[in-house]
Amino acid sequence: MINVAIDGPSGAGKSSISREAARRLGYIYVDTGAMYRAAALYVMQHRIDPEDAEAIGRILPMLDIELKNDNGEQKVYLCGENVSRVIRTREVTRCAPIVSANPKVRQCLSDMQQEMAQKNNIIMDGRDIGTVVLPNADVKIFLTASPEVRARRRHKEMLEKGMDATYEEVLTDIRERDYYDENKPISPLKPARDSILLDTSEIDFEQSVQLVVDTIKNKISK
Ligand code: DC
Repeated sequence: MINVAIDGPSGAGKSSISREAARRLGYIYVDTGAMYRAAALYVMQHRIDPEDAEAIGRILPMLDIELKNDNGEQKVYLCGENVSRVIRTREVTRCAPIVSANPKVRQCLSDMQQEMAQKNNIIMDGRDIGTVVLPNADVKIFLTASPEVRARRRHKEMLEKGMDATYEEVLTDIRERDYYDENKPISPLKPARDSILLDTSEIDFEQSVQLVVDTIKNKISK
């Protein structure tokens, strides 16, 4: 099985670029950020304090996350319910980093992710895929862009989806999340030693997809 790990900060376009690159290569796309968001929503639905590791540990065995492909679109199911939209709200976005810092949550989701990678040719995107989840991935890419470019893109995306936020709010959120992701004690965001660094600040979506596809083809042909 071919395993491609794509890591990088939030808003670098990882998900949309990885999804399209996977489609062109005929691989399955696994959005691990969506899985952490679903886990955060699960904690919120149970009205548990996201910092309460013990309470989270108690409900974790019942956590059921499924990624399904519906007409080419990836849908996220939490305990049988389609939560694809609600996991993108600001509330869930704010809760996700706290829940994802929980080692038991990371272990649980990492097990699910490794199982998916064993059975399929995949592109998996996240924060710790090349470093922790798939340390033996065939290709490791670290995809990044400047905070301002990422905020501009994310803000535009939110407005298109009818969500309400200012550019400044989005930029503040991105900076806070970068700081948190880079400094968290477990699985901090950092490029794997053997990853290929790609910066999309100056290139558009199509060029980014092409760059990722070419990088993958190049690496696996060697
Ligand atoms: O990529 P995203 O914004 O959808 O990620 C949502 C949250 O999950 C974010 O706080 C980072 C976290 N995350 C993680 O800790 N590990 C991953 N492999 C993927 C995401």
